[in-house]
Amino acid sequence: MKVRESGMPGEEVWSEFFEPKRILKKLGIDKTIRDIADFGCGYGTFTIPVAQTVKGKVYAIDIEPDMVEETKRKAEKRKLGNVETIVRDFVSNGSGLENESVDYVMLFNILHLNNPETLLREAYRILRKGGKLGIIHWNYDSATPRGPPMEIRPKPEQCIKWARNSGFNHPLQYDLKSYHYGIVLTKEGKR
Ligand SMILES: C[S@@+](CC[C@H](N)C(=O)[O-])C[C@H]1O[C@@H](n2cnc3c(N)ncnc32)[C@H](O)[C@@H]1O
Repeated sequence: MKVRESGMPGEEVWSEFFEPKRILKKLGIDKTIRDIADFGCGYGTFTIPVAQTVKGKVYAIDIEPDMVEETKRKAEKRKLGNVETIVRDFVSNGSGLENESVDYVMLFNILHLNNPETLLREAYRILRKGGKLGIIHWNYDSATPRGPPMEIRPKPEQCIKWARNSGFNHPLQYDLKSYHYGIVLTKEGKR
């Protein structure tokens, strides 16, 4: 089931809202990270810079074949051999990734879905102990140029509560400027 209000504007419009490299650095995605899963990769806005940064594999999952194809095309054009693209409905079917198989999960602009805790528990399942969860979402501000309707747009404290209920700890919150906040949480335990 496609996440409500998760359609995208054209890529030119979407990419104007982000400076991916700056955001990824702030959210702790650097070359110390090995494997990473991007839930709802969209145009690959973040997938591609992530693949240029991390040491291991990037699993780029999306329900829309066109989005997956676009991400794959970009990865191939840049000769990035570490991107595995997957067409899959992760709301209905989970990610399909093994337990404790990645070091970081990206839930970027996706947490306004109906059952956020189901997705957060899936993120928790596939993360290795000590792994990180990164969340980005539109500020809870009706003046942002896009974003889900305010009735379903989560506040950062709501995301933290859901994530804590799903097992995560140690939330750190960031202002990503100009229209988004970021949160990083940890799955505790020794690697
Ligand atoms: C708002 S976009 C965010 C894209 C990307 N994470 C970013 O921030 O640039 C949400 C993406 O999630 C995908 N999506 C929505 N529901 C999904 C589902 N049930 N399973 C997999 N992907 C889904 C959409 O196709 C879309 O590409």
